[in-house]
Amino acid sequence: MEIPTRLVLAPMAGVSVQAFRRQGRRFGAGLVCSEMVSCAGLSHGNERTLGYLRIGVDEHPLAVQIFGSEAGVMAEAARMVEAAGADLVDINFGCPVRKVTKTGAGATLLEDPDRACRVVEHVAGAVDVPVSVKMRRGLEDGSRAALTIGPRLVDAGAASLTLHPRSARQMYTGSADHSLTAELVDLVDVPVVASGDVTSRAEATAVLRTTGCAAVMVGRAAQGNPWAVGEIAGRLDGEPAREEIVAELLLFVRDTVLELGEQRAAGFLKKFYGWYLGRGRFPKGFKQELVRLDSVAEVEERLLSAAPGAKVILSRLEAEAPPADDTLLHLPISIYSGG
Ligand SMILES: Cc1cc2nc3c(=O)[nH]c(=O)nc-3n(C[C@H](O)[C@H](O)[C@H](O)COP(=O)(O)O)c2cc1C
Repeated sequence: MEIPTRLVLAPMAGVSVQAFRRQGRRFGAGLVCSEMVSCAGLSHGNERTLGYLRIGVDEHPLAVQIFGSEAGVMAEAARMVEAAGADLVDINFGCPVRKVTKTGAGATLLEDPDRACRVVEHVAGAVDVPVSVKMRRGLEDGSRAALTIGPRLVDAGAASLTLHPRSARQMYTGSADHSLTAELVDLVDVPVVASGDVTSRAEATAVLRTTGCAAVMVGRAAQGNPWAVGEIAGRLDGEPAREEIVAELLLFVRDTVLELGEQRAAGFLKKFYGWYLGRGRFPKGFKQELVRLDSVAEVEERLLSAAPGAKVILSRLEAEAPPADDTLLHLPISIYSGG
């Protein structure tokens, strides 16, 4: 599988909707990922969960991430993911959120290497597309579990490993210790992706150089900030103009309404207003104003009145996008925030 740039857009529950992934590809991400999808939900045919398997024509290459702890159920889920058109099946061994870890899934599997290897073996045996694993360093602070389990996962069939070198206990505190990523790179002969605290091209370059990793993954820095993706990919420099920010936000709003339906999108989008308009780009009160508005139509109107020049940019962006089809409709919102 060929990935056109060394930048991967991170899977983020409650963020990585299609609109986010499509935008990430447009700004230079070489690979985009769905948020984690419950293998149990897929295997039960849960309608909401199945919605995660709708894939847009302009998303490829795309990884769909699954989580669970039963090898057989994970294999069945992987087959469904492959049938849906994903280019890669990613397995989540990193989620630190209790709702997931208490079921034996996510980061918990780092402490149960035999089970983790069984999961990878079954999943890799079930599909023809490559299978990758995303993990944290371990459960407890200072843990080096990822270094012990990593090579075993490769033997079990993982074609690539992504490491977010924080412990599950750390959640998002402290910093990602990429010296561990460098150690992992030395231990395995498959591509390793470095995840954690990459926010600029300078940092991306440093992580690539000091760890020898194949690619960097960008998460929080990309929230409401596709220009960071463009900067890290080496395509853009400098801050975007206000009109451009508003145009991208409006396109994101419209795409998200198509995916989630207007009612769900209205709530889902609120956090994105701050992400797009913050960073000193617009006065603080403006975001508060948008969050208080009831309908998406009012939000659009208010945004356009703040930056009228956005209209022509938006028309151009919409003309360039492939036509939305019914595969975009009603994608569910994640109930597992935090990843
Ligand atoms: C809101 C949020 C949701 C996340 N959801 C997932 C997820 O579903 N699966 C996953 O493997 N990682 C998830 N993560 C972790 C990210 O993929 C990434 O590893 C982490 O944020 C560190 O990278 P960053 O510093 O670039 O954000 C999530 C992170 C955030 C902030």
